[in-house]
Amino acid sequence: MASRIFIFNRLDMINPIYSPLPERYDNGMKYRRCGKSGILLPEISLGLWHNFGDVNTFANSQAMAHFAFDKGITLFDLANNYGPSFGSAEETFGMIMKKSFRPYRDELFISTKAGHEMWPGPYGEWGSRKTLMNSLDQSLRRMNLDYVDIFYSHRYDPNTPLEETLQTLVDIVRQGKALYVGISKYPKEAAEFAYKYLEERDVHCLLYQGRYNIFNRELEEGTLQQVKEYGTGFIAFSPLAQGLLTNRYLNGIPADSRMAKGKFLKQEVLTNEVVLKIKALNAAAVQRGQTLAEMALAWLLKDDLVTSVIVGASSVTQLADNLKSIENTSFSVEEIENIKRIVTK
Ligand SMILES: NC(=O)c1ccc[n+]([C@@H]2O[C@H](COP(=O)([O-])OP(=O)(O)OC[C@H]3O[C@@H](n4cnc5c(N)ncnc54)[C@H](OP(=O)(O)O)[C@@H]3O)[C@@H](O)[C@H]2O)c1
Repeated sequence: MASRIFIFNRLDMINPIYSPLPERYDNGMKYRRCGKSGILLPEISLGLWHNFGDVNTFANSQAMAHFAFDKGITLFDLANNYGPSFGSAEETFGMIMKKSFRPYRDELFISTKAGHEMWPGPYGEWGSRKTLMNSLDQSLRRMNLDYVDIFYSHRYDPNTPLEETLQTLVDIVRQGKALYVGISKYPKEAAEFAYKYLEERDVHCLLYQGRYNIFNRELEEGTLQQVKEYGTGFIAFSPLAQGLLTNRYLNGIPADSRMAKGKFLKQEVLTNEVVLKIKALNAAAVQRGQTLAEMALAWLLKDDLVTSVIVGASSVTQLADNLKSIENTSFSVEEIENIKRIVTK
């Protein structure tokens, strides 16, 4: 008997059972109401586009997911093709679900999407009923889930009737495979059609997901306002411009950085002009007592047009830095003007 207890304890040490911090909701995280809905979302969400694939170390991905949940992050943002390889970020998350998060499923707000290239042939991408339905079924299997909290049409498909895509979103909710639906990167006209179509069928569009950061402000030209008018929430992706708005590239290109990998963030982006802007923004952040990453996230959270920002991270240290942004999200008029001046120079 004694030796059996010993073996059990040894296994426990090798693979300890995850227990989230009891104080996870009293750790500084703030929650915002998502448009006109019953849902509250954390100001910072975690995205699994990079650093959760089968090319990454599971221990690091798991540590980031645990750290996030311990700090009150409830929203984990995925898509069918996150990896690499395609699908592997969902598989990683599925393992974390199985090993750690299963008892806490009702505390989590998990998203996935379909629309970008996923599998070969004519049905592996875009917005047909077949693509969306088949893709969501695959995602649920990979993530070990019965349902996702929100399912997005990942991009507008100009060649599929919008009614087909949107009716599929409605049917997905009716089938109970997603509690809510959202759209990502839709142009304004298509978004307006979507909000109305969904509302008429009693399926409110919960979230619009779009690229928004200090360097990319196109959504200020109408989309953010439109989102608000329709009572939809807005969630920003690439809030750090994939790492440009951090200390990562102040002194060259680190070998382990996203830019060094060269696929989604090209080295050509880092012109002398951009480096000067990053350095000036960094100086502005230092003046506020923040890192550049903290200031860039705080800048997005400074007003109520943004419900949440989805950060990416390659380490727990980065994630911890990003979470500090919440501590100071107010900007003086001079600070806002200074940032604008730096960016538009
Ligand atoms: N709907 C869509 O079409 C769409 C598109 C893109 C992304 N997304 C979602 O948005 C999420 C975030 O996108 P993203 O990964 O581009 O976000 P991001 O937050 O702009 O960039 C993340 C990268 O910035 C660097 N970084 C993060 N925090 C840092 C810190 N404190 N200090 C220094 N460097 C830091 C890391 O780069 P290194 O890896 O170099 O360390 C990290 O991988 C994705 O995971 C995904 O869920 C959605």
